[in-house]
Amino acid sequence: MSIAIAIDGPAGAGKSTIARLAAKELGYIYVDTGALYRTIGLAAFRRDLTADDKEQIIAMLPEIKVELAFNERQEKIVLLDGEDVSGLIRTPEISMMASAVSAIPEVRAYLLDLQRDMAHTNNVIMDGRDIGTVVLPDAQIKIFLSASPECRARRRYDELIEKGMDVKYEDILSDVIERDYADSHRDIAPLKPADDAISVDTSGEDLETSVNKLLGIMRDKL
Ligand code: DC
Repeated sequence: MSIAIAIDGPAGAGKSTIARLAAKELGYIYVDTGALYRTIGLAAFRRDLTADDKEQIIAMLPEIKVELAFNERQEKIVLLDGEDVSGLIRTPEISMMASAVSAIPEVRAYLLDLQRDMAHTNNVIMDGRDIGTVVLPDAQIKIFLSASPECRARRRYDELIEKGMDVKYEDILSDVIERDYADSHRDIAPLKPADDAISVDTSGEDLETSVNKLLGIMRDKL
């Protein structure tokens, strides 16, 4: 039987970086489910759709193909209709679009099997918002990772600045707060800890400390 570790939490809590490093350490496959929602957000954006065009976004789903794959350097990438869009889905615009499309039940249903199939055939660390509650309710380990909004906004800001993007800290902070609210208050699969999740707060911690803390929890439970 394959082993699944679910890591849920709000944007910028460090889920993806920590999950990627922990997966490498344990020899598991890392699945970034946010990248899937972002890719659908990008597909909608490219069709000039907005958050209000729910019907058109739903109609678009059978026309697109979203896949997770590896590139020639063995890095995890996400493909939209065969194109590597990994670098294009990390902008603030696409973050907001991803949050909007993720509130549409048909979008969540569209991605559900894809996520479950990956966990069926591999040992995975999967990160997202509803992995422990909806996608993999039987995951052997569930972690809910959080940090203060200011701390998360600062991390996202540093990341985007390092990539050469022209962004303001205040804008990132208000995006974080807006997205937290939208992700936790939507009707379907809202962001919340599973009843049996272990909550971990990474505020003020450096990456190494957080990774070691999580690896400690995982090794204890495995
Ligand atoms: O983790 P992220 O910031 O890349 O996710 C982008 C958006 O996708 C986020 O606003 C919420 C949504 N999302 C979701 O609803 N469920 C998931 N399992 C992962 C992401």
